[in-house]
Amino acid sequence: MTNTTQPTIVVATDKDHAARCTADLIHETVRENPSSVLGLATGGTPVGVYRLMVERFQAGELDFSKVTTFNLDEYVGLGPEHDQSYRYFMQQQLFDHVNVVQESTYVPNGLASNIEKHVAEYEEQILQAGGIDLQLLGIGNNGHIAFNEPGSPIDSRTRLVDLTEDTIEANSRFFESAAEVPRHAITMGIGTILEARRIVLMATGKSKAKVVQSAIEGPADPSNPASLLQGHARLTFVLDPESASELSL
Ligand code: F6R
Repeated sequence: MTNTTQPTIVVATDKDHAARCTADLIHETVRENPSSVLGLATGGTPVGVYRLMVERFQAGELDFSKVTTFNLDEYVGLGPEHDQSYRYFMQQQLFDHVNVVQESTYVPNGLASNIEKHVAEYEEQILQAGGIDLQLLGIGNNGHIAFNEPGSPIDSRTRLVDLTEDTIEANSRFFESAAEVPRHAITMGIGTILEARRIVLMATGKSKAKVVQSAIEGPADPSNPASLLQGHARLTFVLDPESASELSL
């Protein structure tokens, strides 16, 4: 039997509109279920989304008091105080500005002494929370989702991974030099991500156009990890016109 589930593709008018569309989907999820479990991403793409979530919280429109969050990934070797750690990013962009209970915010611990034990616990914590209601994703220039680099298996779980040279290069913009970018990370697996009840992948900018096109219109293949999302029952791509420009819509 072929899988005929098609993703929803939203092409926003621009990058800001894409952030609004994505924030609306998260907003709707939390409004429907105030105890929602949100899967969150870092990187440049969701910054506008988090800004809107903070604004909506401040306007009394969004309440995070019962929300639980799980982040996708973290660099190995960076602690919460390091300004390039993903825990630090989340505190700055969202957690410090809304009423989420800090103990209900989970980000993999880049300083865990026993990573194998830590990743197993992370999976268990997601299960204990009832699974992820909405998982927000960005996409790397090479198709990676979280730090699942090309070649990652569809059934992969939260684990320790090596970053590719592509990703180290792309992320070096946030560090003094490429030499300072950590070489390893902890990431949720593709199998972990696929268990989310809803997935929203947001992409903006021309540099993502080709990889977005092959994720949506190409074959589902580990060479483009985002293509492995095809067939998920509730998958939405929120794109700006540049990132959607290679699609044959
Ligand atoms: C971040 C993450 C990464 C990014 C991707 C795109 O938590 O998991 O997969 O979503 O590298 O990054 P930006 O948004 O900076 O282009």
